[in-house]
Amino acid sequence: QNARIKIDIDRTIGKVDKNIYGSFVEHLGRCVYGGIYDPGSPLSDKDGFRNDVKQAVKDLNVSLVRYPGGNFVSNYHWLDGVGPKDKRPTRLELAWGRLENNRVGTDEFMKYTKEIGSQPYFSVNMGTGTIEEAQRWVEYCNVDSGPYYAELRKKYGHEKPYDIKYWSLGNEMDGFWQLGHLNAEDYSKKAREAAKLMKLTSPDIKLVAAGSSNYRPDADPNAWNQTILHELRDVVDYIALHIYVGNPENNYYDFMSTPLVCEQRTKIVKGMIAREMEKADRGDRGPIHIAWDEYNVWYRARAGASMHGTRALEEHYNLEDALVIAQFLNVFVRNADVVKMANLAQLVNVIAPIFTSEKGMFKQTIYYPFQLFSNNVKGTSLDTYVDCGTYSTKEFPIGLGESKTIQKNVPYLDVSTTYDNGEVTICVVNRNKDKAIPTDLISEEGKFDGNFEVYEVNGPNVKSENDFGKTTVQTEKKPDIKVRNAEKFTYSFAPHSFTMIKG
Ligand code: AHR
Repeated sequence: QNARIKIDIDRTIGKVDKNIYGSFVEHLGRCVYGGIYDPGSPLSDKDGFRNDVKQAVKDLNVSLVRYPGGNFVSNYHWLDGVGPKDKRPTRLELAWGRLENNRVGTDEFMKYTKEIGSQPYFSVNMGTGTIEEAQRWVEYCNVDSGPYYAELRKKYGHEKPYDIKYWSLGNEMDGFWQLGHLNAEDYSKKAREAAKLMKLTSPDIKLVAAGSSNYRPDADPNAWNQTILHELRDVVDYIALHIYVGNPENNYYDFMSTPLVCEQRTKIVKGMIAREMEKADRGDRGPIHIAWDEYNVWYRARAGASMHGTRALEEHYNLEDALVIAQFLNVFVRNADVVKMANLAQLVNVIAPIFTSEKGMFKQTIYYPFQLFSNNVKGTSLDTYVDCGTYSTKEFPIGLGESKTIQKNVPYLDVSTTYDNGEVTICVVNRNKDKAIPTDLISEEGKFDGNFEVYEVNGPNVKSENDFGKTTVQTEKKPDIKVRNAEKFTYSFAPHSFTMIKG
């Protein structure tokens, strides 16, 4: 018997926010230096930005880019990174063990986001930084003229304010590893006061609270989220959540189910938000939403020397990683009512879809599902019924264990669907490693009529990788499916694949 996907355009979840196609640039390893920026390279433009990387970023269609960290930001002082480059200090970078020469800072990054056509999303230093320093950064970026820091921006050659809309109040402040880590109460107090100063400076900004990132056995991420949502419910617009998954035990099926952990955490936080919104005093600002502002596969370059210096966090991705990224994006779409931002961590070299050397670059496997989503999946997310075979998983690795209950029954097909201007887009990961899954796609409201485009990300096996000069995993356009005024059509999803059907 075929699997079934029932699509009903009346069963809507919410609007897919284009900011779920965000990414992240941190001063870490070769993300900035040797990644987006390589002055003196024949591959770079006059400002030092790598042209080949810029083109790949544009093609990825990244909606917004989080900057400048990450753990880096919790000891970053933004004034170090503005003004004449030869006057900028070199600092000891404590989060990732490097020297930071500050050749890229606010103004360079803003030029970059403009060129790639993305929005900036800045994070302020809530670790070793002060609320005053945060306020002054907002003034430098967003105030037209008059006060000292607005005038300083002009003096440095940037007449117009940048009007940066998205600002996060620190990074992973729940983590003991964070420079200047605080407990939930202390973080909330500091974040609330920073928010006050920042909003008085630039009233239209959107603020993001640093939610849970610490899921180690001795941490209590739900208590953290509950406290900060309660304390910051009147002032922030998003709560940021972070998740990294991996396959350290080389168990394909366990790994394939890890994005469901992200889904369960989403639902838990959604409930907490609903509870706090009952009593919140937010004027007409609407409810708080979730920003998954760091997510990815990260487990190989996560210990010892791979965590420090100029070659830190250089993961080399394979097909199974790409399937996990497609599933994360399915999770965000399926929860489009509450997930209104997500940032693939990161953009270049550091756990990233784009990988460079001095001579060139290649697109990692995870580039392709992201690109398909960001260019095609928009409009309204639909609540879609899926009937297919399931499998059971073993225990999750430490740190992912809290969601055992839903992990015992993992469907082989992971699905999201959207509807936009008369067009349906169906995104399906077939988790089955060995078998194709013939599936009836059924319209519950009206009939399918027309040509459906089909794109597939796949490769010879789940460990297939790309490299310099070798593209084994990429998007392949398959023959269109022609449907004439029918209630259903059938498609067979290939083993270990991500498929997008659109029409
Ligand atoms: O993205 C890499 C790091 O992961 C970030 O700096 C930090 O926020 C997280 O722990």
